[in-house]
Amino acid sequence: KNNKLIAPSLLSCDFTHLADEIMAVENAGCDMLHLDIMDGHFVPNMTFGPFIVSQIKRVSKVPLDVHLMIEAPDMWLERYVEAGADYLCVHQESVVHLNRVVNRITELGAKPAVALNPATPPQVLEYVLEFVDMVLVMSVNPGFGGQKYISNIIKKVEWLARFREENGLNFLIEVDGGINRTNIGMLSKKGVDVFVAGSAIFSSDDYKKTIEEFRELL
Ligand code: DX5
Ligand code: ZN
Repeated sequence: KNNKLIAPSLLSCDFTHLADEIMAVENAGCDMLHLDIMDGHFVPNMTFGPFIVSQIKRVSKVPLDVHLMIEAPDMWLERYVEAGADYLCVHQESVVHLNRVVNRITELGAKPAVALNPATPPQVLEYVLEFVDMVLVMSVNPGFGGQKYISNIIKKVEWLARFREENGLNFLIEVDGGINRTNIGMLSKKGVDVFVAGSAIFSSDDYKKTIEEFRELL
């Protein structure tokens, strides 16, 4: 429906059948794939790096939304763009020179996005919003799939949607963490454009049915 995008997070998929899982969510009608990169330092978990991203790129047809939950992401930008990131997302909390990092991602040819932890206010992004393609509002503390949605992030969505409107900007607003059929419709109405969902999709028996149900609620 309209311009709303659904981005399954592969974190919750069966990694022993990665290509099959990717094909299954693409055939189920997803719009992007969300890839969670964790380094064991910025977050207390580890996943995969640019090599696996490049392998995913070879078998996927939809854009890749790469979410870097790592320290010093500025050292890795080039590697992830080369690997095939379409959106490349850094955490505000892990970057000192955010303007520089965002501009660098653009120069490298990807779309810059910035993520906010649940406790970080959106106003810290005021002077960078005109340069980003997407803002990722985390609705759980990053690190793991299957956590409970933190409901006060709705205030950040409202602030971002208002700022976007008042300033004639067009960055996308994305939510990530605990997204399911109970909150997706309300978030959509408040202005969210991109919905990441890991466990809600991959723990369902029918990905297509789940994604179609989501779309009905948007
Ligand atoms: C959390 C990740 C999310 C996670 C979402 O650190 O950024 O992308 O996979 O999983 P669910 O939808 O299960 O909360
Ligand atoms: Zn994520």
